[in-house]
Amino acid sequence: MKLVRLLANLGYGSRRQVAALCREGRVTDADGAPLYADDVVAHAAVRVDGAPLDPAHGMLLMLHKPTGYTCSMRDPGRVVYDLLPPRFRLRSPQLSTVGRLDRDTSGLLLLTDDGALLHRIIAPKSDLPKVYEAELAEPLRGDEAALFASGTLVLESERTPLKPAKLEPLDDRRARLALAEGRYHQVRRMFAATGNRVVRLHRSRVGGLALDALAEGEWRQVGAAERERLFAAAG
Ligand code: URA
Repeated sequence: MKLVRLLANLGYGSRRQVAALCREGRVTDADGAPLYADDVVAHAAVRVDGAPLDPAHGMLLMLHKPTGYTCSMRDPGRVVYDLLPPRFRLRSPQLSTVGRLDRDTSGLLLLTDDGALLHRIIAPKSDLPKVYEAELAEPLRGDEAALFASGTLVLESERTPLKPAKLEPLDDRRARLALAEGRYHQVRRMFAATGNRVVRLHRSRVGGLALDALAEGEWRQVGAAERERLFAAAG
């Protein structure tokens, strides 16, 4: 791929702006020799202002989403892309969230520019467990674990029963819930079906990936070995 297209796809500017960067001598190889807009150069060999390029196409990121941010590109309020380098919003193919977390949900959010990977993660047959910790307005009744595990619970305005989900009470108003699917507002609606209300919701795990030490608002790349861990937890 020509340099001009490589850099434009990574969000360094329009083709015209990237060509100008090259003319200004700001795009070089690792030894500082200038590169030209129509050169064909490996991603790893290119520097802009002396710095290596942003990750190549096919990246997977994990973000510790704080509450108050929406999983959208075009929301007038805070969006998760505000927490990433501004160039990431300009990439082509686009960097998309892998599913969504509600504005008021915190926790592990994955983002990728690889459409095939995105579909592999969210495909129903992947069955990747998603683990949430929910804080509730009312004490647990005691029958929630059996109801959620039954595979018979049908949410309001839906027809298909939910897949069995595993609930582990943490105390009388807090529970950990592992889901094998991701329907709209699913956790909040499941507890609503038991007459309760979720007051805080946090996702701690997707497949074999956990947030670990990532602080709220921080992100990092998910490496190749971790991607395997992500899928190893399926089933
Ligand atoms: N379930 C919800 O209700 N909200 C989320 O953000 C994720 C799962």
